[in-house]
Amino acid sequence: MIRKACISDVKTIHKLINISAAKGEVLPRSLTDVYHCLRDFFVFLEGEEIAGICAMNIIWDNLAEIRSLYVRDKHRRKGIGSKLVHACTNEASGLGIGRLFTLTYEKEFFSQMGFAVTERTKLPEKIWADCFRCPKYPDYCDETMMVLDIDV
Ligand SMILES: CC(C)(COP(=O)(O)OP(=O)(O)OC[C@H]1O[C@@H](n2cnc3c(N)ncnc32)[C@H](O)[C@@H]1OP(=O)(O)O)[C@@H](O)C(=O)NCCC(=O)NCCS
Repeated sequence: MIRKACISDVKTIHKLINISAAKGEVLPRSLTDVYHCLRDFFVFLEGEEIAGICAMNIIWDNLAEIRSLYVRDKHRRKGIGSKLVHACTNEASGLGIGRLFTLTYEKEFFSQMGFAVTERTKLPEKIWADCFRCPKYPDYCDETMMVLDIDV
C-alpha cells in the first residue's frame, strides 16, 4: 500500500536514504532535510514495514524532481519502485506540473516508466541546488539526466 509519509516515518526514511547513499545510489540527506521535505515523500508499506520510498520535490514553474527513490533489496522487482514513481507523477499532474526529471544510474528502470535521456543543459539552472552540495559536482557526475513530460 502507498501513502504519503507521516512524521513517524522520518527515522526510517532517513535510514533507508543513507543505506542507499552509502552505496552511491542516491544523495545522502540529513535528518533535518528529511523533516523539511517530509511532505515530498511517499512510502510503500508491506505489512508494517516501509519497503520503499520516493520523493517529488518541486523545483520551479512546471518542473519537479523525482529523488530519494529506494526499494529495500528483498522487495525489488515486484513493481514497488514503479508504483512509487507513479504516485509522484500523479501528484505532480494534480498540482499542474507537467515536467519531471531525475538524475540516476537506473536508466532501464526510468526508461520503462517513460522517462527519456536528455542533456542537462536543456533544464534550467534551478536544478543545480542539490548538485552544488554533491561531492561529484561538477566534474565527476556520472549520473544520467532523464525527463518525463506528463498531462496536467
Ligand atoms: C531502482 C529501484 C527503485 C527499482 O525498484 P523496483 O521496485 O525493483 O522496480 P520495479 O519492480 O517497479 O521495476 C519495474 C521495471 O523496471 C526495470 N528495472 C527495475 N530494476 C532494474 C534493474 N536493476 N536493471 C534493469 N531494469 C530494471 C525492469 O524493466 C522492471 O520490470 P521487470 O521486473 O518486470 O523486469 C531499485 O532497484 C532501487 O531501490 N535501487 C537503488 C536505489 C536507486 O538507484 N534509486 C534511484 C535513484 S534516482
